[in-house]
Amino acid sequence: MKKILFLVMAVLAAASMMIAGCGGGDKKADSQKVLRVGTEPTFAPFEFQKEGSKSYDGFDMDLARAIGKQLGYKVEIVSMGFDALIPALNSGNIDMVAAGMSINDERKQAVTFSDPYYTSGLTILVNKDNTEVKSIKDLEGKRIACQIGTTGEKTARSVAGAKVTAFNTNDEAVMELKNKGVDAVINDGPVVGYYLAQGGNKTMMTVGDVMDAEQYGLAVKKGNDQLAKDINKALAELKKNGEYDKLYKTWFGEVKK
Ligand code: ARG
Repeated sequence: MKKILFLVMAVLAAASMMIAGCGGGDKKADSQKVLRVGTEPTFAPFEFQKEGSKSYDGFDMDLARAIGKQLGYKVEIVSMGFDALIPALNSGNIDMVAAGMSINDERKQAVTFSDPYYTSGLTILVNKDNTEVKSIKDLEGKRIACQIGTTGEKTARSVAGAKVTAFNTNDEAVMELKNKGVDAVINDGPVVGYYLAQGGNKTMMTVGDVMDAEQYGLAVKKGNDQLAKDINKALAELKKNGEYDKLYKTWFGEVKK
């Protein structure tokens, strides 16, 4: 009897040592879930990389990291073309999109959006020596640059007779305007405003009013309702505890009313 008891105890001891041995080393890595966040980083002040820097800066990036922290995730930013983001969600290569993505019916067919977290709208950027273009109407028959897969592209393509060039990055679209390869760029108002305010280009200006309001949402794979729910909960908490306002102030200089 004693012998059997001894044997049982010995086996148990060995087993517990094995468990401790396995878990011990990478306990941290094991317990921390990873949230892969997809973005396209030529969209300051929402997502961008400072020259020579590998890290991702901007309001969306900070917001994504804050949400990840709330939910106990380690956040990993994955950079890709804007038009690759929704396919990457759906193929499971990323878990969430944080890319100033406007919520609209077409995209709602393909992904599930969080609650809106920012109100935006499109605007027109031209060279200052352009005296013809004052509004979207004046872009009829003109050359317009935009970023591929964006609401800016969609709007540009709706302009009668316009010759639209869709670039992979916003930087290329602006470069094309600078080189006078196009007459205008259509992009999100806050991004164009930030670019001009940062002294990005003294030879350019915006014209006309900011177009219809667009709401940015974080996106997850369609049907991943649990993650969407968690994100909304985290978002609400960040709004309640002042963290959202703090980030807003950091990137937009004032607290949203
Ligand atoms: N808000 C626009 C859209 O949803 C443009 C977003 C572009 N975002 C970016 N990270 N480049 O189409």
